[in-house]
Amino acid sequence: VSTQSISVMRPRLPDPFRVVGRLNQIQSVRTYSNFGPQVRELESRYADFLGTSPDRVVSVTNATLALEGAIVVTDIGRWQVPSFTFAATPAAVLGAGRELIWADISADDWWIDVSTASDLENSGIIAVAPFGSGFSFNRWPRDREVIIDAAASLGAPLPPLSHLPPTWAVVFSLHATKVLPAGEGGLAVFGDASRAQAFRSWSNFGFDGRRESMRVGTNAKMSEMAAAFALCSLDGWDQERSEWQRAQEQARQVEHQLGLRTIPGAESQLSPYWIVEFQSVEQTDRVEHHLEANGIGTRRWWFPTCHTMSGFRHILAPDHLPVTEHVAPRVLGLPMFRELTEGHFSRVRLALSEAL
Ligand SMILES: Cc1ncc(COP(=O)(O)O)c(C=O)c1O
Repeated sequence: VSTQSISVMRPRLPDPFRVVGRLNQIQSVRTYSNFGPQVRELESRYADFLGTSPDRVVSVTNATLALEGAIVVTDIGRWQVPSFTFAATPAAVLGAGRELIWADISADDWWIDVSTASDLENSGIIAVAPFGSGFSFNRWPRDREVIIDAAASLGAPLPPLSHLPPTWAVVFSLHATKVLPAGEGGLAVFGDASRAQAFRSWSNFGFDGRRESMRVGTNAKMSEMAAAFALCSLDGWDQERSEWQRAQEQARQVEHQLGLRTIPGAESQLSPYWIVEFQSVEQTDRVEHHLEANGIGTRRWWFPTCHTMSGFRHILAPDHLPVTEHVAPRVLGLPMFRELTEGHFSRVRLALSEAL
């Protein structure tokens, strides 16, 4: 048995030799940002990939800014946010200068449970797709303002985004740790083309055709170089998908053999995570320490929960977010990357069974 350590993740961008052609194109055009040819091609390719039109897809520096901009282009002052998420989600609401209301998650599938937040009527909903989950559009009323933080969901089964209600947006991350990576990058997809246009303007200093700020904006534009990497990832999607699928299938086998519980619906998804919910906090701690002692990386994803973090503690939370408080300390991310071999999974399975 190898004693080499196994990381919890090993991000991998497209091989540089596949990107060189696009980098040469960028150099010959000498446009490095500002919605150049690579970014335009990327938005159009993603419109096809996601089943919508290019005028509703805007590329952006990262998903955190995509969330912030998607909030800024609405008139909604208060947003319900689950505490069980990555810190980017609440940071985006506060970055947009809006009020944040913490909400609990549903025990069934870890999506936001909006009935738990205090202001049901006039608030927007930031629905976080847990760990790369897929989604449909029938969960919330079509006339609500909804932003789906689908940071890791580009590999999940999704309905055509042309069916997004006009007041909804979906945000994806192209960070190195996600599927289809660019290194840093994001996409904001809107149900309404005029919102997408307002978002594009916000991402470019509030300019709208002229070099004059028509609204308060920022600089959140994706560079041509990031778009070149993102396009090469898309070109290699078939290969990448089968590599993730193979690794995920092996993770499902280990779960099955050891009777572990993962995210509901994980069988049909293709995410860059292996998430397990253990039976008790004590068992989770034990697994974490035993795997570490055996050179196997784990990660506490979305724990501590956001509402308890120093950076967000000034935002009043309900006395209890019972499901969040139950789930978060029992969740552990186990190794998941494309080069994992059967040997790696055997080691993980052995260490898990010893700890359990
Ligand atoms: C749920 C969630 N939202 C937002 C983000 C932020 O994405 P980015 O790193 O592209 O800003 C992440 C990143 O991991 C995430 O997991």
